[in-house]
Amino acid sequence: MDTIILGIESSCDDTSAAVIKNGVLLSNVVSSQAVHEAYGGVVPELASRAHQQNIVPVVHEALKRAGVTKEQLSAVAFTRGPGLMGSLLVGVSFAKGFARSLNIPMVDVNHLQAHVLAHFIKESEEDNSQPEFPFLCLLVSGGNSQIILVKAYNDMEVLGQTIDDAAGEAIDKCSKVMGLGYPGGPIIDKLARQGNPKAFTFSKPHIPDYNYSFSGLKTSFLYSLRDWLKEDPDFIEHHKNDLAASLEATVVDILMDKLRKAAKNLKINEVAVAGGVSANNGLRNSFREHAGKYGWNIYIPKFSFTTDNAAMIAITGYYKYLDNDFCTIDKPAYSRVTIYYSVSPKSESTNSFLRNTCMSSIPSPNPMYFTGILN
Ligand code: KG4
Repeated sequence: MDTIILGIESSCDDTSAAVIKNGVLLSNVVSSQAVHEAYGGVVPELASRAHQQNIVPVVHEALKRAGVTKEQLSAVAFTRGPGLMGSLLVGVSFAKGFARSLNIPMVDVNHLQAHVLAHFIKESEEDNSQPEFPFLCLLVSGGNSQIILVKAYNDMEVLGQTIDDAAGEAIDKCSKVMGLGYPGGPIIDKLARQGNPKAFTFSKPHIPDYNYSFSGLKTSFLYSLRDWLKEDPDFIEHHKNDLAASLEATVVDILMDKLRKAAKNLKINEVAVAGGVSANNGLRNSFREHAGKYGWNIYIPKFSFTTDNAAMIAITGYYKYLDNDFCTIDKPAYSRVTIYYSVSPKSESTNSFLRNTCMSSIPSPNPMYFTGILN
């Protein structure tokens, strides 16, 4: 019997729905919200309202393009967190109501796990380009920078992560300081292609283990720019490309230094990258250079699977469905990733990555939870 999963993503400013049949992608519809451009960042209330407007037509379109009726669905998978609470609530509520009305299971998906599993989205039966377990995944997005050891679809361990800002956030903020548009990542990427990555140097963090820090780089960029602007009020205009290239090169160096260390220490040469920042050309090129120099087998997602999309939610839902790992209606959305200790046997048996993730709004009774915020 076929397993057909509808995936729903609404964690930030993209409303998306996708259909996966037996692990193969049939459709992936994404509606991005242009409304935030004027504000230089995502406005949570506007995002939530736009999700409300978009969710029904987006799901309808995904089913139509997949040639699937809602009665054929095996389950509805949805992003339960982390993300913006108002945005998540739209997708979570819709998914629960839809699954209930069809009397099919619902599968809750951790958005970060889904970014990693985007590498398993198959666009055809013949597509065999997936990484082999165990592999390392550098997860870099607007809200996260993590090195993850991926042991199986549902068994992941966070080896290191940012102790302050994420890589994407730092790039976006520096771009904002330069007066460029929103989001800054793609703009910096484009300008960097014409610039000299060695033109300027910015400070790099010295923190232990596999953790990252990007707040110092942000400050270093801001202060340097402030000094240069005193000398030349048109400094940004004159050096836009070099500034972008130098900033990008610094971020890429910081990311790759720790990843290289992890790959060497763990003796793993299957290395993947995921998340919105993995669209960055400088980072992609650095991955290719590392493949040549260190013999890595690298996995770089298609551009459409780097930023938020429901295909990655559907594939994660598919593997959780095969594991009979379903969600009950009372599980709420969660906005942040927190350390979580549960006394329930189900949670005890789940892996360290998932054990480390849960909700900031914990449902009533009991579990002993929340010992600290990871992200
Ligand atoms: O994964 P994502 O779509 O959303 C979450 O944060 O979950 O990532 C968004 C981030 C933003 O910071 C955006 O500027 C960055 O990804 N980004 C890029 C590029 N495209 C998107 N950063 C650098 N170069 C790009 N080409």
